[in-house]
Amino acid sequence: MTDKDQYKIHTEPFYQAQGDEVELYEAAYAARLPVMVKGPTGCGKSRFVEYMAWKLGKPLITVACNEDMTASDLVGRYLLDANGTRWLDGPLTTAARIGGICYLDEVVEARQDTTVVIHPLTDHRRTLPLDKKGELVEAHPDFQLVISYNPGYQSLMKDLKQSTKQRFTGFDFDYPEEALEADILSKETGIDLDLAAKLVTIGTAARNLKGHGLEEGISTRLLVYAATLIKGGIDPKPACRMALVRPITDDVDIRDTLDHAIDATFG
Ligand SMILES: Nc1ncnc2c1ncn2[C@@H]1O[C@H](COP(=O)(O)OP(=O)(O)OP(=O)(O)O)[C@@H](O)[C@H]1O
Ligand SMILES: [Mg+2]
Repeated sequence: MTDKDQYKIHTEPFYQAQGDEVELYEAAYAARLPVMVKGPTGCGKSRFVEYMAWKLGKPLITVACNEDMTASDLVGRYLLDANGTRWLDGPLTTAARIGGICYLDEVVEARQDTTVVIHPLTDHRRTLPLDKKGELVEAHPDFQLVISYNPGYQSLMKDLKQSTKQRFTGFDFDYPEEALEADILSKETGIDLDLAAKLVTIGTAARNLKGHGLEEGISTRLLVYAATLIKGGIDPKPACRMALVRPITDDVDIRDTLDHAIDATFG
């Protein structure tokens, strides 16, 4: 199996578009423009990128960024083995060589001195200098860079530099409107639409509490968890408490409010 096949997505991921993001992404990809996807946790950012990689038939290499990550973790490093030293490409270099989509997830978590290594890849140069190896990698014509982050969690200390931001086109993602979200839950898990709609009303109730004691509302991901538990035979009330309430808050009052919303919904 070649590197390229290894990173290809062979079966279509289920992705329900919320608007014209699929067409816009295709246009950005056609021009090889870098793309940034912003939005709260569990709203479909990663699923969207997986779907687009599948649709375009390109390999997808995903990197979960964190603050300990160094430029070498992205571009590569020399390893010591029995025969001496050997260069090992990092995920960014691999994607640039094979013509993949490189998806840097939660990119604001990375330090700014790490993030700048993507700069020469994101402008007309489309190159990646491997300083330690003394090689200048020319990106394959199919290579594209995609980053995602959650704007809510960023602080002044953790933000992208303007010189990084302004190398990307951008999408604002959010939780889908109610009918669409119910449709997603039903198609993703196989529960019926009525039940899915009830779960969504609990999601909406929680999202209305955001900023009133709740840091973040219930994500589509957690609604999928609840639907999965119910599909597996668990009663809706305990399934909702376990999937929708316990993970998101320890605040007794908010838990009470949400537990009541669940009781009211499933009577
Ligand atoms: N538009 C959608 N179409 C299909 N499934 C969706 C959609 N939006 C959300 N989902 C469901 O929600 C789950 C979480 O979505 P995803 O992993 O893409 O979130 P994310 O935005 O990348 O979150 P994070 O920022 O935490 O990584 C998916 O596994 C899928 O089940
Ligand atoms: Mg994600």
